[in-house]
Amino acid sequence: MCGIIAAASNRNVGKLLVQGLHKMEYRGYDSAGIALHQKDQIAHLRTLGKVKLLEEKMIAEKPKSKLGIAHTRWATHGKPNQVNAHPHKDQSGNIVLVHNGIIENYDPIKKFLRSKKVKFKSETDTEVLVQLIGYFFNKGKLNFEQSVRAALQRVDGAYGIVVLNKKEPDVMIAARRGSPLVLGIKDKEFFIGSDISPIIKHTQQIIYLEDAQMAIIDGDDYKITSINEDVSLPKKVEKIDFKIDDYDKGKFKYFMHKEIHEQIDTIRNTITGRTKKDSIMLHGLLDYWPEIKQADKIFITACGTSWHAGLIGKNLIERFAEVPVHVEYASEFRYNKTLVDNNSIVIAISQSGETADTLAAIKKANDYGAITVGICNVPGSSVSRETNCGIFTRCGHEVGVASTKAFTAQISILYLLALKLADSNDTMSKKAIKEHLDYDEGIKKIKNILNKENEIKKIALKYKNANDFLYLGRGLNFPVALEGALKLKEISYIHAEGYPAAEMKHGPIALVDKDMPNVFIVPKDKTYEKIISNIEEIKSRKGKIIIVTDSKDKILKDLANDLIYVPKTNHYMFCVLATIALQLFAYYIAVGKKLNVDRPRNLAKSVTVE
Ligand code: F6R
Repeated sequence: MCGIIAAASNRNVGKLLVQGLHKMEYRGYDSAGIALHQKDQIAHLRTLGKVKLLEEKMIAEKPKSKLGIAHTRWATHGKPNQVNAHPHKDQSGNIVLVHNGIIENYDPIKKFLRSKKVKFKSETDTEVLVQLIGYFFNKGKLNFEQSVRAALQRVDGAYGIVVLNKKEPDVMIAARRGSPLVLGIKDKEFFIGSDISPIIKHTQQIIYLEDAQMAIIDGDDYKITSINEDVSLPKKVEKIDFKIDDYDKGKFKYFMHKEIHEQIDTIRNTITGRTKKDSIMLHGLLDYWPEIKQADKIFITACGTSWHAGLIGKNLIERFAEVPVHVEYASEFRYNKTLVDNNSIVIAISQSGETADTLAAIKKANDYGAITVGICNVPGSSVSRETNCGIFTRCGHEVGVASTKAFTAQISILYLLALKLADSNDTMSKKAIKEHLDYDEGIKKIKNILNKENEIKKIALKYKNANDFLYLGRGLNFPVALEGALKLKEISYIHAEGYPAAEMKHGPIALVDKDMPNVFIVPKDKTYEKIISNIEEIKSRKGKIIIVTDSKDKILKDLANDLIYVPKTNHYMFCVLATIALQLFAYYIAVGKKLNVDRPRNLAKSVTVE
C-alpha cells in the first residue's frame, strides 16, 4: 500500500527521504511526492511513476530542508496522476499532509467544506482531511495540534498521517488509526515511517504508535498524546533487532528470489528453541495455554497466502489433535454471523501484522470475548499488539510482494501448535511426537530443491506462454495447490486456479485442452492411487501434466509431460518442499516473461485498507 517517511533533523533531510521512498518501493505504488519545510514556505514536489523521477526533480531543484514528509501512493480514491499524488495541501497552503488509509466519510465532509467555499484540486479522500485541518487552523481559534485533533475526531476510516504547518518550521505531527506508523528516535533526530524499512538505517530505537495516538515533534523534543484528548502518554521506546541485510538483495536480482533461498534458515529460526526432544515450548502462549488446550473448536482467520497457511493448520490440528478447526477469510469473518464466544480460540495469521481485514477480525473476536492468538512476523505490529497472545515467525523482514518465506514459517508454527495440542490432548504418543520433531534432516532437504533450480527453470520456461493453469492437490496439498496458483497469478499475470484434485471433475475439467498445463502435487501417501486417476482424467483430455512428487514410480513418468522430484520426507515437510518448488516455478515463469517480480502490477505488500 502507500508508504510514508518523514524526518526532522539538524541535517538536510531531502536525500534521506528519497532514499526512504526507495526502500519502500517493494510495497507497490504509482506516484510519489515530497514536501520540505523551508522556514517561510514549503517546497512541494510530486511525480507520477517511479521514485527515480522524483529524485531527478530533487536533484534539479535542490530544495534544502531540515523537516520533511514524503509518500509513495497506491491509488484508492482517484486515478494515479500527479494531482492525486501526496503530499496534499489545504487551500491556504498552510497545511501539508501525507496519508495512508481511507477516509470513509469523505463525501459529507467534502460537501460541508464546499459549503464553506473550500475548493478541491484532487479526487482523493486525503485532500478532504488536509482541507478539514486547514479549515480549523485558518479560523484562528485552534492551534496546529488542536486543529489536527479536531479534524481527526470528525473522520471515519483508517489513517496514518504526518502533517506539516507552514507557520511552524520545527513542528511535525503524526497520528494513526488503523494504518501503522512508527516513530524512530536518534538523539535529536526523528523519523516517521509507515513501517521500519525506510528508517532502520538511521535508528533502531522505535516507538510503535498505537491506535488513536498522535506524536508531536517540536524541535529537539517530542510527546505522545491521544487523538481523543490532550493528554501526555508514556513513550514506549523499543529496540528492534531487524537486520539491515533484510533490506538488501545481496547476490539476487529480486527479493522474492532471495527470500525463496532463505527458507532453510527462516524455517530453522522459526522452530529452533521451541522444541526439546519430545516437547514443544510455545512461550508466547503460556498464559493462555490452559484455555487453548481445552478448546473444543478453533477458528483460524487470515487473508491471501496466510489464509492458505491457515488451511494447512486446520488439516494438521484436526489430524494430530482431533480438534475441529474452522478457517475463514478475515474479510468474511468480520461481517459474517459468528459462532465465536468467550470459550473460543481465534488464531489470526498475518505476515505483516497490519492487514486491515485481519485486524478487524481480531477486534470482532476480542469483542466476543474469545482468546485471540496471533501468528505474525513483525514484532510490535498491530496483530501482535491486538491479540491476547501469540507466536512470532522468525523470518526477518519479508520484502518481496509475493509472500514466500513467511508462508513456510507460518506452517512450521502451525505444525508445532498442532503437535503441542496433540501432546496435551493425548491424541498422539510421545514417540510419534518425537519422530515429528526430528525435523533437521527434512529442513536440510530444502537444499536439494534449491539445487534443482535450473531444472525447475527449464520446465517453467516451457510453459511461460500458457494462458491458464490448474493446480491440483489433495489433503494437506490442496492448500499447497492454492498457494502455487496464487504465486503464479500474482507475479506472472497468468490465470491459475487451485483445486482439490478430485473436485476438478465437477466443473474445472471443462477448461482442459491440449494447451492447458495442469500442475499435480503428488506425495506417495494414501491418496496416491486416487490422484493418479485424476491425472489420467486430465491426460485423456490432452491436458499437459506437470507433476511435483516424491515418488519415482514409472507410472508418473508415463503420465507426466514434466516431473519435479522432491526428496522423501514426512507429510509436513513434503508440503514445504512442494511449496518451494512451486515458488521457483512461478518465479521463473515471471522472469521468463521479463516481468518485475518484486513489483507486480496492482499489488501492494501490506494491505492496510479494507
Ligand atoms: C500473497 C500475499 C498476500 C498476503 C495477504 C495477507 O503472496 O502476500 O496474499 O498473504 O495480503 O497479508 P499478511 O500475511 O501480511 O496479513
